[in-house]
Amino acid sequence: MGIGRIVNALLNRVNPRVVQRAMQTVTSIPIVKGQIDKESEKMMAELAQSLKPYREGFASFTRLPAAGIDRQAIIDEMEKLRAAEEAKWKDGFVSGAVYNGDEEHIEFLNRVYAINSQSNPLHADVWPSTTKFEAEIVAMTAHMLGGDAQICGTVSSGGTESILLAIKTYRDWARDQKDIAAPEMIVPTTAHAAFDKAAQYFNIKMIRVPVDASMRADVAATTRAVTRNTIVIVGSAPSFPHGVVDPIQELSELARQRGIGFHTDACLGGFILPWAKKLGYPVPPFDFQLPGVTSISADTLKYGYAAKGSSVILYRGEELRHYQYYTTTDWLGGLYLSPTFAGSRPGALSAACWAAMVSIGEQGYTDAARKILETAARIKKEIGQIPELRLVGDSLFVVAFASDTLDIYAVLDQMGKRHWSLNGLQSPPAVHLCLTLRHAQPGIAEKFIADLNASVEYVRAHPQERGDMSAVYGMTASVPLRGVVSDFLKRYIDLLYETSGNISPQSR
Ligand SMILES: Cc1ncc(COP(=O)(O)O)c(C=O)c1O
Repeated sequence: MGIGRIVNALLNRVNPRVVQRAMQTVTSIPIVKGQIDKESEKMMAELAQSLKPYREGFASFTRLPAAGIDRQAIIDEMEKLRAAEEAKWKDGFVSGAVYNGDEEHIEFLNRVYAINSQSNPLHADVWPSTTKFEAEIVAMTAHMLGGDAQICGTVSSGGTESILLAIKTYRDWARDQKDIAAPEMIVPTTAHAAFDKAAQYFNIKMIRVPVDASMRADVAATTRAVTRNTIVIVGSAPSFPHGVVDPIQELSELARQRGIGFHTDACLGGFILPWAKKLGYPVPPFDFQLPGVTSISADTLKYGYAAKGSSVILYRGEELRHYQYYTTTDWLGGLYLSPTFAGSRPGALSAACWAAMVSIGEQGYTDAARKILETAARIKKEIGQIPELRLVGDSLFVVAFASDTLDIYAVLDQMGKRHWSLNGLQSPPAVHLCLTLRHAQPGIAEKFIADLNASVEYVRAHPQERGDMSAVYGMTASVPLRGVVSDFLKRYIDLLYETSGNISPQSR
């Protein structure tokens, strides 16, 4: 059972008058809390059914086995788990997530990982090969993104870490260079949640600027939002929700003129937009060719086709990069330094990332981009033929769609029933499919369109059936109820960490 269905059911079980009261005033939430807690216990138990399918038929450990388990038995069990799960992503039913997924590519990365499995770049003297790989990953990415010799950076563990690192860097730079004690950052509403996370973690005021009808950041609103405490302006290339590239040229120029940092979040687009441009697709400028761009995040784990756990954060100049580093000289454990948040790091992931990049090369990335972009164009064209749907934003490889007549979340639910794992979006309500090489396989685009037509048809014929996700997004539209949803999401994470041995009695 999906989380949307759970919350929908939760809402249906809770007395509607109680829910209404919660909506009226934040202070009334404690009154409903008891009832919501009780119902959500029951809901959690239902949710556990789908999230914890291995409670039976598989060994479960809540303490170390007294004697170690036979290795082959462990491998056999893992193979069973893989077999149960891989069809969904292999057959292209998932938005984003696995960007390459080709058997031979996976085998190759696995071999590279195995060769390097013991390496840790924290010990640069023991594994200079790993630092060579990391330096070259950064150099190749900088070159791809219009960088010259002054562009430098580091490898990180993923898009979120690259973004967190960049924001921490600007905070420390602004404190040191500009004496800014109460930092602010300006971020379009479409930028990734990682920026909000950074603002929370690093105590920075985040000013959200609206986007225009094309879902691009509003330059005039950004200009008005600048204060003497602004440390960085952010733009996406492209944004996660709708796949559109912000007006990076104008925004970065504004930042340059005011002496503010500008971060391009190219986590999603960094490894596909350069090749899209080469293929002749319209790609607005977004990289270091623009003098105002002072940092870029680009994810090797996405269209770089590396394994999960690697990304690149780039800076214009070493001076800025120094604000990212951590060093200490008075620790009892000796002199200590680390470029990113982690201490010890998996050098094997950097080795696999390097191997992916050099084995694919410019030609391979261009060919992959062509396949993905052509498939996306076909899907967009077909969605244009469905009268109830309209595309949101003009994107090259993220297909976002909404409806003026149907509950789009009901369409999302129907797609879920047909095994599709798509993303629900809000403000405005929409759904997206982020295309990868999985979707460029023969027949996948056709299956997607056939299932989408069937889903739209179903929702049109059953207008009274409320989509599971409608309830969730209905709640998040009301400020007091956002707290209820947020609590529920925390309990969802708790559930993920439950084992058969520590399931709370209520949710059993
Ligand atoms: C534009 C953008 N930025 C940042 C991220 C965060 O990346 P990660 O999930 O690797 O932390 C994503 C993820 O999809 C993204 O699309």
